[in-house]
Amino acid sequence: MIQVQLINDLKENVKAAKQAGKSIGFVPTMGFLHEGHMSLVKHAREENDFVIMSIFVNPAQFGPNEDLDRYPRDLERDTKMAVEAGVDLLFFPQAEEMYPQDGGITIRAGAQADVLCGASRPGHFDGVLKVVTKLFHLVEPTKVYFGQKDAQQLAIIETYVRDYNFPLEVRRVPTVREEDGLAKSSRNVFLSEKERVEAPLIQQAIQMGLEDYQKNQDAEKATLVTIQHIENGTSGNIDYVELLSYPDLTNNLSNNKSIILAVAVFFEKARLIDNLILNNKGE
Ligand code: PAJ
Repeated sequence: MIQVQLINDLKENVKAAKQAGKSIGFVPTMGFLHEGHMSLVKHAREENDFVIMSIFVNPAQFGPNEDLDRYPRDLERDTKMAVEAGVDLLFFPQAEEMYPQDGGITIRAGAQADVLCGASRPGHFDGVLKVVTKLFHLVEPTKVYFGQKDAQQLAIIETYVRDYNFPLEVRRVPTVREEDGLAKSSRNVFLSEKERVEAPLIQQAIQMGLEDYQKNQDAEKATLVTIQHIENGTSGNIDYVELLSYPDLTNNLSNNKSIILAVAVFFEKARLIDNLILNNKGE
């Protein structure tokens, strides 16, 4: 596996891959890798000649009171996992080189960022769009891989790529879970033992809410079912529980649309998110 920190070294390798006629599969991450990330690599590996993964804890997407400084990092372990997963090139830039100057130009996500995580983390998705713009230009991927675990991020990036004609294809990858249903996340390490036992309830609560919605077609009632299950069974504080259309993320839940039930819960040292998406056939 090729390991590069500098943008110029990345560019040289991208150029060589392109000249050899290789398709490039790209998996952007913030590291502290787990099986969710590995599933993105597996899909990228299957569908491309050359697989690039980036590891960059992007300061632009963290708010002033968020966990940028204590976001978990372990480049050595990540490197081993990337090798095992069959990554061809690992890019781990430094913030100083990624953001050397600030010309005051911002990219702003649209209405899709006004709800869910965008509502409780103002500017978060602008920061995500900032870094993916740079990464897409540097990596020149044929296909990019994003997880449905971060369904709002995925929806916003799909819209951005479509509206601004990025010459690449966005691929959706299903959420990878622990055996007890908890969605894999780099932040799960911050859960206390007690919270770790409680956390799988989030997934159950989402499932119960969706089942209720399928029966009664009442979004308010369905979210209430989810809220009650989380409140009764965990010590966490709910940030949001919302049932919206997907991927446009509005309250317009007409029959022919896919829907998402999305949840964010604050535990003592970690804010966890999860969701389930039902397509318009109810699957
Ligand atoms: P990060 O949280 O490291 O996630 C990187 C990718 O892995 C995202 O596409 C995310 O949806 C996916 N992922 C995380 N947990 C997953 C799981 N349990 N199952 C499937 N996929 C999962 O998302 C980011 O980083 C950043 O915002 C980034 C896109 C890299 C921009 O900085």
